[in-house]
Amino acid sequence: MKNLSGSSVRLAQLPPLSLYVHIPWCVRKCPYCDFNSHEAKGDVPEEIYVEALVHDLEQELPAVWGRRVTSIFFGGGTPSLFSARAIDALLSAFRARLALAPECEITLEANPGTFEAEKFRDFRSAGVNRLSVGIQSFDARHLKALGRIHDDAEARRAVEIALAHFDNVNLDLMYALPGQTQVEAEADVRTATTYGTTHLSFYHLTIEPNTLFHRNPPRVPDEDSAAAMQDMVEAQLAAAGYVHYETSAYAKPGRECRHNLNYWRFGDYLGIGAGAHSKLSFPDRIVRQMRAKQPVEYLKRVGASMPVQEEHEVARTDAVFEFMMNALRLTEGFPVASFTERTGLPITAATRGLDEAESRGLILRDHARVRPTELGRRFLNDLLQIFLEEEKQR
Ligand SMILES: C[S@@+](CC[C@H](N)C(=O)[O-])C[C@H]1O[C@@H](n2cnc3c(N)ncnc32)[C@H](O)[C@@H]1O
Ligand code: SF4
Repeated sequence: MKNLSGSSVRLAQLPPLSLYVHIPWCVRKCPYCDFNSHEAKGDVPEEIYVEALVHDLEQELPAVWGRRVTSIFFGGGTPSLFSARAIDALLSAFRARLALAPECEITLEANPGTFEAEKFRDFRSAGVNRLSVGIQSFDARHLKALGRIHDDAEARRAVEIALAHFDNVNLDLMYALPGQTQVEAEADVRTATTYGTTHLSFYHLTIEPNTLFHRNPPRVPDEDSAAAMQDMVEAQLAAAGYVHYETSAYAKPGRECRHNLNYWRFGDYLGIGAGAHSKLSFPDRIVRQMRAKQPVEYLKRVGASMPVQEEHEVARTDAVFEFMMNALRLTEGFPVASFTERTGLPITAATRGLDEAESRGLILRDHARVRPTELGRRFLNDLLQIFLEEEKQR
């Protein structure tokens, strides 16, 4: 076995670069959510935070000097809590400091609710060209059980307003909700498809540690029912013309989310804002960064010109698993050449794992491409476990 424990890699070329901007506040914390989101008690410190984000970016500019940014993603939390003026100021600051690709995809996550939907037009004017609306369900009872602040009418209205101003719209929905029946899940899928948005994300609701649902678990559909819902989602969306291109993501042909595709293809991203993560490649190393999760702590650190709380080089031994964890989520898998291009390692570094995955029917491969089989996609955790075990043995 080749010795992979050395720390340095050699990357012939750097991957595409995306920018992620984290907005860490929400009106209320949802009981199932483990994202870095904090209940906004009173007004959010919008101006201070915008200034901090720009300062954060400026600190990091030397690390991305001369590189083109192919996508920007405002994620949360609830970015639509911010005014369009704040988003406009941020985008102007980014344009002045970074080389944005001419077709740069600029996504903003928005929550339904009259107050926020009214701003959609102004987000578009500010330069956002893709809106991702957190619908979760179109069913009033389920929205209530999920602790959402919007109801079914507001969900529908938000989609209508989004479509009036954006031609590239994603809807986030979840299934296997507390007490959800197959018929109810089907109704949600049907409603979602009637709008014809370019993109739909359907997530299996998971009960995450450190959430209210974990402390006080609701009754959710059992594994078999959830699997039947997943099959139904796939069949209905295929019939409606959506391509299932990633575990939870479905797009009209050619309208995949470029920002997320870059993550899954093990591209680079600079993440600014509270709790944001970055992965940045250099000719001789790959680096991961994390910023402080608590907004107050983050602002303090930016004030001291030290936005990055933790930084480490990705060890060669970790790079195989990290690459697979992303690339095998994609239906198309990955071109063999991209493994070396992105990790700086020869494909032989992954051979043992790939051999085992192939013998268990979890992947298909030839000299040019590796892709997960239907079985591999369904049992993605088992597939990834193979590479995790491999990593431990190195
Ligand atoms: C960053 S989150 C939040 C975006 C936005 N604040 C919202 O709630 O609509 C993106 C999506 O992750 C999904 N999500 C959050 N927690 C989840 C969980 N425990 N299980 C499955 N999906 C989850 C939701 O569909 C959510 O819209
Ligand atoms: S699901 Fe969205 S709105 Fe709810 S707490 Fe998480 S980030 Fe905030």
